[in-house]
Amino acid sequence: MRVLFLLTVALLVGCGGAATGGGGATKSPLERNDEPIEDVIADLEPAQPEVQIPYVGKMYNLDGVETGLIRFDACGCGYVRSYMEIDSERLDVKVLFPGVPTDFSRFDGESELLRIVGTFYDEGEQAFGETTTSSGNVGRFNLTIDREGDQTAGCKICHVENDPFYPLPETHIPVAPVAPNCLECHDTV
Ligand code: HEC
Ligand code: HEC
Repeated sequence: MRVLFLLTVALLVGCGGAATGGGGATKSPLERNDEPIEDVIADLEPAQPEVQIPYVGKMYNLDGVETGLIRFDACGCGYVRSYMEIDSERLDVKVLFPGVPTDFSRFDGESELLRIVGTFYDEGEQAFGETTTSSGNVGRFNLTIDREGDQTAGCKICHVENDPFYPLPETHIPVAPVAPNCLECHDTV
């Protein structure tokens, strides 16, 4: 009798899962492009990020085709910032945490051209989210924490390398031919 009861429960739970997400929870977030972002995010275990460490990743359209690069870096302005390259467009978007001060797992952000929304998951090792351009194009992205890479790569993209969003002041110590470690002098978030 007890075995039968357990079986019934298992069947009910199975049906419930299929009805809400097409059994989607077992697919990776990026394989769930056909589902609303809210459902995908709701199925991920939210986690606190290590916002001091860069996250690097890729962007995709809803057919799963790669469309560009994305990264998150802590910045000396006191915010996490997202750098994106979509086609030949380069974007800088400030990342905001609506749940602050207690919850850093959910994030959003907005620039003139694009909105992002997403969450950190996988114990903070990864982030997943959606981008919507002002013309309504929707894309998805996945980011992975980058402990091994150059921790100042993002600083250089936005402040030093060709056509930076916010160039260094002319009085700044030289960053060529070899850029010094920005983090020796600058605090980030
Ligand atoms: C995606 C682009 C981006 C990245 C990555 C980035 N920054 Fe910034 N940073 C900016 C912009 C833009 C500003 C100008 C302030 C603003 O618009 O909010 C800024 C401001 C600053 C400032 C001036 C703050 C002030 O208020 O005087 C410092 C210092 C700074 N960043 C250092 C860094 C360092 C160090 C890193 C890497 C660890 C970094 N930034 C990563 C875009 C970026
Ligand atoms: C040896 C220390 C040192 C290092 C290393 C250093 N900076 Fe700076 N940085 C400063 C000082 C001091 C200032 C403010 C004085 C000035 O304008 O030169 C400054 C100013 C800035 C500003 C402008 C702040 C403002 O108020 O507008 C930015 C942006 C910045 N640094 C980014 C960087 C980045 C990116 C790197 C790494 C490639 C870096 N710095 C490496 C010392 C340093």
